[in-house]
Amino acid sequence: MQKLYEGKAKVVYLTQDPDKLILYFKDTATAFDATKKAEVQDKGVVNNTISSLLFELLNMSGIRTHFIQKLSDREMLVWKTERIDVEVVVRNIAAGSICKRLGLEEGKPIDPPLVEFFYKKDELHDPLICKDHILMLGLMKEEEVKHVKSVALKVNEILRKFFLEHRLILVDFKLEFGRKGEEIILIDEISPDTCRLWDAETKEKLDKDRFRFDLGDLMEGYKKVLERIKNE
Ligand code: C5P
Repeated sequence: MQKLYEGKAKVVYLTQDPDKLILYFKDTATAFDATKKAEVQDKGVVNNTISSLLFELLNMSGIRTHFIQKLSDREMLVWKTERIDVEVVVRNIAAGSICKRLGLEEGKPIDPPLVEFFYKKDELHDPLICKDHILMLGLMKEEEVKHVKSVALKVNEILRKFFLEHRLILVDFKLEFGRKGEEIILIDEISPDTCRLWDAETKEKLDKDRFRFDLGDLMEGYKKVLERIKNE
């Protein structure tokens, strides 16, 4: 297969069909602009499984995503899109960068949920941007920003309810979007690499914060998430 692009956690391959790509989930874990890096056995398998399950749920709920089907342990077939260089973060509870930026205490509820935009540019360390920056940089049009924000909030409602049914709290998460013709659809992955998930009872962190802050075995957390959403 011909490689189109290699990122920190995934490789993107071309397929025979020019409209479709294959995402290959690697075992590499990175944090803090990839200054912290490790190989974590089977992370790719678990993240592909979780992402596929969540994209299926979103597709069934009427959200337009790039997900077509899970092909194998580490591979997912997706629609080819042109990536928009904006990361969309939705927050239900304060954690991570917003605590540092605004001096909030971790765990403070954010109601209504907050949508933030970050410019996806490694060399600039993904700075926080506002709608006017997005327009000025020509990344999206005004109606498109509105659309993306409303999709992000819808995704939040669907995922928040789903995770809670499995005794997990969706603290925050990051989405990416791409253009497919005239349409803007959800792309990339949705996994414990891109979401903060806490155990609803114990508040144990089951996501990438385990790796970022050495809170315990990474895969133990990720596997707990998978087991709950798969079996319960
Ligand atoms: O670091 P911060 O608190 O802004 O992250 C918010 C959410 O977005 C977290 O769930 C984090 O895992 C996710 N995120 C991501 N990729 C990034 C930045 C943040 O998946 N480049």
